[in-house]
Amino acid sequence: MSVPDGALVVLMGASGSGKTTLLKMVNRLIQPSSGRISFYGEDTAGLDVIELRKKIGYVLQSAALFPHMTVRGNIATVPEILGWNAERIRARTSELLELMGLPDDFAGRYPSQLSGGQQQRVGIARAIAGSPKVLLMDEPFGALDAITRARLQDDLLRIHRADRSTILFVTHDLDEAFRLGDRVAVMNEGELIRYGTPAELIKAPDSDYAKKLLGFLSLEAIRRAEERGGVCGRPSDGTVHDSVSG
Ligand SMILES: Nc1ncnc2c1ncn2[C@@H]1O[C@H](COP(=O)(O)OP(=O)(O)OP(=O)(O)O)[C@@H](O)[C@H]1O
Ligand SMILES: [Mg+2]
Repeated sequence: MSVPDGALVVLMGASGSGKTTLLKMVNRLIQPSSGRISFYGEDTAGLDVIELRKKIGYVLQSAALFPHMTVRGNIATVPEILGWNAERIRARTSELLELMGLPDDFAGRYPSQLSGGQQQRVGIARAIAGSPKVLLMDEPFGALDAITRARLQDDLLRIHRADRSTILFVTHDLDEAFRLGDRVAVMNEGELIRYGTPAELIKAPDSDYAKKLLGFLSLEAIRRAEERGGVCGRPSDGTVHDSVSG
């Protein structure tokens, strides 16, 4: 499976099919038992883990904030590692809180003083704080209400266009997958069974499992995907730098 630089790729598949495992292999939280993951042309097995993770933002399936740190402290984790000065970190924190629709005075709160959805939004802010080249997002909007979710989907698309970051995004929500994804990967029992643009998948699901899954797609999502056509939604030079293969 190859992920073009700057693409937003959505991973779908049943619970237990291996989506989280795949994300964790990209930033080396899990070592592949076989196969190879290359990151901008280099085998991740040979890269320095800390250097690799500086370039990769990770939004976990649960927000997993550092409980002993304030919201500001959590968001500042990566900027501090990157050596930003206090003023720049403060400005970035305010900017991200606003982007996530959280009041500025939340910066001094601890995670236990936030709701689940608010914690999840801080987790997203923490992951994107250092503007990483690659962003791994594991069901980031799962715990949010429909309105907040739709707003954050719009924000994500905006951030993605502005930063040209490469995003691997896991979701169980078919409409979300087809709304966000330049490409959609369907996994089943640890295998990649289909990978293509939303329009390609609708036209040719190519497997009973994918066909069954697509049966749950709304007519609105199908219309949108067909409108966008078979090409990648975002401009790209077409070269494949960032690839996951095995
Ligand atoms: N550390 C581990 N050791 C052994 N097996 C594991 C480990 N972590 C996950 N698994 C197994 O690997 C398979 C894939 O798990 P994974 O968490 O990647 O699924 P997923 O697609 O993310 O599912 P969900 O949608 O429920 O989050 C599952 O069968 C799971 O039980
Ligand atoms: Mg998972």
